[in-house]
Amino acid sequence: MPTPEYTDEDASLNPSRERRFQEIVSSRLGRRTLVAGGLATAAGFLAAGTSGAGPLDDLLDLDLDISLGGGRPSGPLLGFTAIGTSQADTVVVPAGYTATPLLPWGTPILGDYPAFRPGANTAAEQAQQMGTEHDGMHFFPLGLGRARNRHGLLVMNHEAADEKLVQTGSLTGTLPPDSAWTAEMVAKSQAAHGVAIVEVFNENGEWKVVRGKLNRRITANTPMKFTGPARGHRLLKTMADPNGTSVLGTFNNCAHGYTPWGTYLTCEENFNGYFRIDGSGFNAETSGLTTRYGVGGDRNKWALADPRFRVTSANPNEPNRFGWVAEIDPLKPNSTPNKRTALGRLKHENAVVVTAKGGEVVVYMGDDQVNEYLYKFVGRRPWRSEIARGRSPLDDGTLYVAKFSDDGSGQWIPLIQGQGPLTAANGFADEGDVLIKTRLAATLVGATPMDRPEWVAVNPRTSRVYVTCTNNTSKTVANAANPRVPNRYGHIVCWEENKKDHGALSFVWNLLAVAGAGVGAVPTNPPGQTLPDGSNLNPADAFGSPDGLWSDDDGRLWIQTDGAQPIACNNQMLVADLANRPAATPGTATGLPDIRRFLVGPKGCEITGVIETPDQRTMFVNIQHPGEGVPSTWPDSNPSSTAPPRSATVVITRNDGGVIGS
Ligand code: FEO
Ligand code: CA
Ligand code: CA
Ligand code: CA
Repeated sequence: MPTPEYTDEDASLNPSRERRFQEIVSSRLGRRTLVAGGLATAAGFLAAGTSGAGPLDDLLDLDLDISLGGGRPSGPLLGFTAIGTSQADTVVVPAGYTATPLLPWGTPILGDYPAFRPGANTAAEQAQQMGTEHDGMHFFPLGLGRARNRHGLLVMNHEAADEKLVQTGSLTGTLPPDSAWTAEMVAKSQAAHGVAIVEVFNENGEWKVVRGKLNRRITANTPMKFTGPARGHRLLKTMADPNGTSVLGTFNNCAHGYTPWGTYLTCEENFNGYFRIDGSGFNAETSGLTTRYGVGGDRNKWALADPRFRVTSANPNEPNRFGWVAEIDPLKPNSTPNKRTALGRLKHENAVVVTAKGGEVVVYMGDDQVNEYLYKFVGRRPWRSEIARGRSPLDDGTLYVAKFSDDGSGQWIPLIQGQGPLTAANGFADEGDVLIKTRLAATLVGATPMDRPEWVAVNPRTSRVYVTCTNNTSKTVANAANPRVPNRYGHIVCWEENKKDHGALSFVWNLLAVAGAGVGAVPTNPPGQTLPDGSNLNPADAFGSPDGLWSDDDGRLWIQTDGAQPIACNNQMLVADLANRPAATPGTATGLPDIRRFLVGPKGCEITGVIETPDQRTMFVNIQHPGEGVPSTWPDSNPSSTAPPRSATVVITRNDGGVIGS
């Protein structure tokens, strides 16, 4: 079932035009022959390729020339038997593995450690418990040596809140009318959002919450600061913050990032839906921003009791203070999180941090909405020298947006005030304008519209970069990197930066996987489809709506789904061996890596968030919103239980203690 943000992201707010699919494919494939009516064929063609030379063909061997070494395994990376599909109300993992729920919504983690009372906890109690809708997550090890594998901080986002669940404790509860909505209700919802930092310890094989001093909840009301070029900008000023330098809280925290200097990045995604537009009289700039970012809707009814979420002509700028990436130091529980404006304002999915060859920090980021863009930030100086000088490496640098060309090459276009069309006459009088109005700037410079770019992942062994484009059923036109119209099941794009340098300004790209029912297969879900869907997968590996994406240190690419599946199956997690591919066989999923289904979640959930301990022998995966649209009792799976379904983490181990997936 669609998550609340799904419908929202399905609506294009981008007025720029794309070209027709056939035109693109013709120009990209040149002399290659297309089968008539071959949308499906063309998509597989793009991924597999057959002839010619150039960047595309370099990428056909994209995952074959991995250089092995450094103590990493040299053979196949996958050693488990793939599981089948499942519609059971449980987490299914391969034979020889165990999955155990941990830290469900409402688990007390600090303060008075208030017990979970579904629907009955106060706002103050919720702020001392795990929030709802677990999403992106990182494990920060504590201790030295082998202790690092059984002791650490789990830091995770709480993306959203279903008000029925939060306020009544049941997905089928009855909410009061708007006239009876209270400030306490809004405060409880706001406390269910944000980020949780929890110390966990493995005691004789069982992971437990440590009542430690580092445990912390960050919510929609936690004081934060703005840093970087947009700090103090006129578009960030409000009545409550006339300086435009400080802001209360973060919400709709989707996925995340983690820096080499030990901090956590939390990404604000569908912030727009928490505001209500009150009245009229907005100037053209505010109208343009609210339109392009889709501000409005008051999805969680916060505007009923918190004036901050009412957008008025007298106080129009509060929405501009969201849509950022915030940095949190998990080891300093009293530190103030910083919203890093240099990373741009969009519907941020995740933020993958790597280092360029020159030592500068590089952050890859997707903007999850149909026809929005892929970005990267490159720091101005080596990040180690910035840290040594007490400066943030994330405050000074250049934001770029991706342009994918039909011939398999690509460019990163800088978003710099005064360059190209980013002039005062076009509404960009300073760099703050560019960063607050990132989407509008990216359109002006000719970025490539994507099919909802979600997580980005980097294979640390090859430096290749991957992004999930989850789906796009509302578009009517295509481009080479997003070739299907409609794109019901999504795809994964892969690219390699020039000279494998993440700081490079050009790259070559290809499609790694076109999701769906598989080569020659007809989707069975939804029923009634009669055509193959253009997927290049093996039918046994069928999946749709790829979203979460993460490469472990060995180059296993973990793929998590959220949304429509082409087969009757709950949302799932698969893993691809990026070091090994099967021999090419005509008519099959030529060129694909070995992909295996590793996990299927309970009913009505999405799978999102995955991380491991440093020894790769414990994996943490998040199960978000079980029971959405279809009844579930997970994780309290006692048949007589009346407990509501709850988002939770699952801890996955191999019964023989081995590396996960190997
Ligand atoms: Fe929060 Fe785009 O998923
Ligand atoms: Ca979600
Ligand atoms: Ca997501
Ligand atoms: Ca999604």
